[in-house]
Amino acid sequence: MKAAKVYGAKDLRLEEVETPRITKPADVLVKPAYTGICGSDVHLYHGKNPLAVLPRIMGHEVAGVVEDFGGEVKGLSPGDHVVIDPISFCGKCYACRHNMPNVCESLLVFGVQQDGGMREYFTIPEKQVLKIDKNLPWKEAALIEPFTIGANAAARGNVGIGDTVLVEGAGPIGIAALKLAKIKGAQVMVSDVVDEKLAFAGKQGADITVNTAKTDLEEAVREWTKGEGVNKVIDAACTTPTIEAAFKVVSAAGTIVFLSFGEEAAKIAPLPITKKQLTVAGSRLQTYQFANVIRLMESGALRGGDLVSHIFPFPDIQKAFDFIDAHPGEVKKALLEF
Ligand SMILES: NC(=O)c1ccc[n+]([C@@H]2O[C@H](COP(=O)([O-])OP(=O)(O)OC[C@H]3O[C@@H](n4cnc5c(N)ncnc54)[C@H](O)[C@@H]3O)[C@@H](O)[C@H]2O)c1
Ligand SMILES: [Zn+2]
Ligand SMILES: [Zn+2]
Repeated sequence: MKAAKVYGAKDLRLEEVETPRITKPADVLVKPAYTGICGSDVHLYHGKNPLAVLPRIMGHEVAGVVEDFGGEVKGLSPGDHVVIDPISFCGKCYACRHNMPNVCESLLVFGVQQDGGMREYFTIPEKQVLKIDKNLPWKEAALIEPFTIGANAAARGNVGIGDTVLVEGAGPIGIAALKLAKIKGAQVMVSDVVDEKLAFAGKQGADITVNTAKTDLEEAVREWTKGEGVNKVIDAACTTPTIEAAFKVVSAAGTIVFLSFGEEAAKIAPLPITKKQLTVAGSRLQTYQFANVIRLMESGALRGGDLVSHIFPFPDIQKAFDFIDAHPGEVKKALLEF
């Protein structure tokens, strides 16, 4: 079978490797149908993911079919459609004991610290395999993992009915946060610096959009919220200006959710945090979001819309990464098709 391995920056090789077999009783053999290409895969491919150990098979956004499983697997049948929960954790450390296994001290992420789903078959423990309805279109199923990132951000922001929420950035993660915040009953403003991204956010359910390259964000928020400020900010742009702006536009008693993995320092005064008694929350990957996102997708309440903009056959994986590098503004979500 074929597997795509990253050996170094922009050194991606499609190799012939042995097809894995079940050797552990709790393992499942999965054949991907579609694997999404995430911004973090692009970072890894560029040699810019300090957490990844090379060589590495990327891919953590997997929807596929159960081919085989070990004797201890009880909840699956051959041919079942499934998605993969990429995180594996110890269950014993402080974070795990406090319901945050996504920041476990020995966290391993499928496709980052472990070989992932950009190969024709893989084995993975049953507890990371989630069954989905066979009627759910594959292109939707492949978006379940990125939508869990938005769901986690909305959960960390404690987004609820009637909240005003600002989502900064209208990339796939911002769109995921927008959709999950809308489902939770919030009013959502989306900011970006590219008009086309904002037009797309509008089609995906944003109540109002702001191009912060042209319009003053503080003024737009003041007008929209009648001076109160937004109750929640989710920063899915992950830039220094969006981080700093969050503290200015959030309301008293509000919450700011950060998704950035950036190491650049932002300049933040303690005054707004204390004066407005803010909650500042990090959101990394997801915890316990798969079941909800799957249910929302299966019911039709959550849909990818036109988020999938490009599909490449798996053997053309190099073309896919070259295309994303050459057309960063054009690609929303690209999938590899197996
Ligand atoms: N914490 C996590 O678990 C997690 C998971 C996935 C992605 N991420 C991070 O989330 C971020 C977004 O991911 P993505 O795939 O959507 O990326 P993306 O690059 O597709 O989207 C970012 C968007 O932000 C916009 N932007 C840039 N400057 C802006 C500004 N000043 N104001 C408003 N918008 C601005 C861009 O135009 C773009 O549309 C990335 O930084 C990624 O590393 C975090
Ligand atoms: Zn991803
Ligand atoms: Zn742990």
